[in-house]
Formats: sequence, structure tokens, C-alpha cells
Amino acid sequence: MLSNLNFGLTRAPACIIFGPGQRNAAALHAARLGRRALLVTDARLSADPDFAVLRDALSGAGLETATFDGVEAELPVACIEAGARAGRDHEADIVLAIGGGSCLDAAKVIALLLSHGGRPQDYYGENKVPGPILPLIALPTTAGTGSEVTPVAVLADPERAMKIGVASPYLIPTVSICDPELTLSCPPGLTAVSGADALTHAIEAFTTLHRDANPNLSTDHVFTGKNAMSDLFALEAIRLIAGSLEQAVRAGNDLEARAAMSRGALLAGLAFGVAGTAAAHAIQYPVGALTHTPHGAGVATLMPYVMAWNHAYCEAELAQIGSAMGLDATGDTHADALASIREVARLFKAIAIPETLAELGLADSLLDQVARNSLGAERLVKNNPRPLDLDGMSRIVAAAQTGNLDNLLAQNETSNQKVAMP
Ligand SMILES: NC(=O)c1ccc[n+]([C@@H]2O[C@H](COP(=O)([O-])OP(=O)(O)OC[C@H]3O[C@@H](n4cnc5c(N)ncnc54)[C@H](O)[C@@H]3O)[C@@H](O)[C@H]2O)c1
Ligand SMILES: [Fe+2]
Repeated sequence: MLSNLNFGLTRAPACIIFGPGQRNAAALHAARLGRRALLVTDARLSADPDFAVLRDALSGAGLETATFDGVEAELPVACIEAGARAGRDHEADIVLAIGGGSCLDAAKVIALLLSHGGRPQDYYGENKVPGPILPLIALPTTAGTGSEVTPVAVLADPERAMKIGVASPYLIPTVSICDPELTLSCPPGLTAVSGADALTHAIEAFTTLHRDANPNLSTDHVFTGKNAMSDLFALEAIRLIAGSLEQAVRAGNDLEARAAMSRGALLAGLAFGVAGTAAAHAIQYPVGALTHTPHGAGVATLMPYVMAWNHAYCEAELAQIGSAMGLDATGDTHADALASIREVARLFKAIAIPETLAELGLADSLLDQVARNSLGAERLVKNNPRPLDLDGMSRIVAAAQTGNLDNLLAQNETSNQKVAMP
């Protein structure tokens, strides 16, 4: 049990607005924050009628607008630099982002470069951003990454084998407008992988290592581990997402299900934006780079295996996750934790998430490379509730490659009896 949760920390936008139709509040908020707006999106979304409505509303509120719709999948550094040039040419004093996590992440780094100059590379890692960035209004169109409330952007740099993060509380958008109607157009596959990403955010945030609180914890680290505040958001996110993800995938026009998913993804963002994520996200970095599969598909494929590896180190939390997912608690924490792992695996299978890394297209010959590179994602590895070395990573990756969840659980039943709890 990861107890002693007296420490709490929330970092969030100055204003979070949630609700169907609330995208129409964007122009009014923008008019309070700037005069010259750069809109950041991708080519598909800039052709959407909702985008034209937003741009016209900004003009109607007295703002001069320019559009950068060159955000590309995987977020290569070059497209971010092109976005920053567009912002400088326009002399933008506010940035609005509308789109999935890729567009929101792009806008964070564009707003950063417009404020502090330099190149994205100058800010890789944690706490490298020197001060506040331009006001940023974020409107997510997936449910999702939670990027509308998080302090991190994830980029692809051709000079590096894996994606890389820029993490700083200064990247948290000023205003987050979460309108579930914007997600109605997500096709089932996108709904499934982005929703599964949100559930892994909440599960990993709720089971991350709890750090000893000291007065430097909230300033020295962007991700501080599980705490009394992030737990509130994580559990509610799990309840909402578990109760609505299958329906949102099956019936994309069900606004109730979409609204529950959007709220769940937002709350999961508030949880992991402070607590951090762990092994499932660490292993997805090399898997995504090698298989070119979506971030959400990779983290969801890995999640049950990571839970199985960790289970003795966070049994009480896993049991609570099961209750939040609607399972009846038996009172036997061990049994309830195992049931929770099986329920996550069942849910992801029901929405057609691949059950193995092999199904994601990973070759057996790359398993060692994946295990080694995963350990390189130190900010995520250090957050895992069970300490991870190369042997541990290799065991998780091997089980996830072949779908051997039972074997991983059985191995841990034996080894965990020998390992002292932290
Ligand atoms: N910053 C964070 O906190 C954070 C957290 C997790 C993941 N990420 C990053 O976010 C990215 C993934 O974001 P994502 O899952 O939202 O997908 P995405 O932004 O990569 O978008 C995927 C595709 O879906 C399309 N799309 C978006 N909204 C749509 C809609 N409403 N209808 C139809 N199509 C739509 C986009 O045009 C794009 O083609 C990855 O780069 C990942 O690394 C960031
Ligand atoms: Fe994620």
C-alpha cells in the first residue's frame, strides 16, 4: 500500500471550462488575453466548419488572426519551427490550439518559442523553460491525451531514436475549453486509442511511486508522484472512462458517453500532469518509434502487463481501481487487485486494442532494444511503484510480446514473496 498521502499538489490552467457548446466561449476569453491570435491546428481540422466558426468568432471579438495548420502526425520538430515562424510573422500575442494531443502539444512549444526564442531542442527535459509563455487557449478534439491541462509536450526529433518531452509547469495552457461536441467526429479507432491512453494516464498516476514530501518537491520536479490531490482526479477519471469508453467507441454520436470520456480524459490529465506516468509510457516510447503505431495503442497494450509486474507493490491501489471500474469488491485485496488487472485487459480487448506487442508489429529480434531503450526514459522509470532494472523490463516486454499475462502474474506471485515491500 502506497500510504502516507499527506502531500497534495494540483497544477492546472487558470480557467477550465467544460461542456457541450463551450467552444463558443473561446473568442470571449481570447479577447481578454490578446489582440493578435495564432491558431494552431492540422490540415484536416482547419477544413472543418467548427474551425471557421472559431476563426470568425475571434475576428468578431476584435482579434487579428493567422492560421498555422501544418501540425503533422508524431509532431516532428520541423513543423513546430514552421509554426513559430508563422507566429513571429503575425506578431502573435496569444496562441489558440484546436485539435488532438499533437496540435495541443505543438501549440505549447510554439508559444514557448515565441516567448523565449531558441529552438525546441533547447528545452528538452524537465524545468528548462525559463518563465511564462504566451497566453494559450487549448480546445481538445479527442478524449484523449489531457494535454489541455498538462505541463508537457511530446515531440519527434529525427536526430533521436525516441520521442522526447518538454516538461514545465509554464506549458500548462492558460485557458482549457473542453467541449465534448468537438469529439463527436472521432472515428471508432481514434476514440478507442485516445480513450485507452486516457485510462492508462489515470491508472499510472494512481499507482506511481509516492515520494517523501519535502519543501522542494513541488519546485524541483515537474512530476512528483502520486499524492492526495492527484488521487481524487485519477479515481474519478477511471470511473468515468471505464463506464463510457465501450459505448463511445460503439456509438460515436452518443453525447452522454462522449461527455463522460472528455471529462475523464481531462481529469486524468490533471492527475498525471502532477503525479506522472510510469512503465507503460516508458516502454511505449521505443515501441512507438519502432512500429509507428499510435501512442494510445501502445500504452494500452502494455498496461495489463505493467499492472501484473507491479501488483504486489500497489495491491490496494489496484483493488481501488477495480472498484472505480465497477467491480464488486470481495474484501480480499489480493484477489480484487488481480480482478482489476483482468478487467483492464477485458476492456481494452473489447475496443480492439492489440493484446500483444507482436500484434502492434514488433519483431522478436527487437525485444532487447526495447527493454534497454525503455530504461532510458528515466523520468518515467523512476516513477514506477516497483523498481525496474533491465531484467524487469525484459520480463515485462517478453510477456507483452507473446500475450503471456498469466505467466507474468505467476512469476510475480513467487518472486514478490521474497521482495520486501517499499
Ligand atoms: N501532452 C500530453 O500531456 C500528452 C499526453 C499523452 C499523449 N500525448 C501526445 O499526443 C499525441 C496523440 O494525440 P491524440 O491521441 O489526441 O491524436 P493526434 O492529435 O495525433 O490526432 C490523430 C489524428 O486524429 C485526427 N483527429 C483529431 N481530432 C479529431 C476529430 N474530432 N475527428 C476526427 N479526426 C480527428 C487528427 O487530425 C489526426 O489525424 C501523441 O503525439 C502523444 O505523444 C501528449
Ligand atoms: Fe499517454
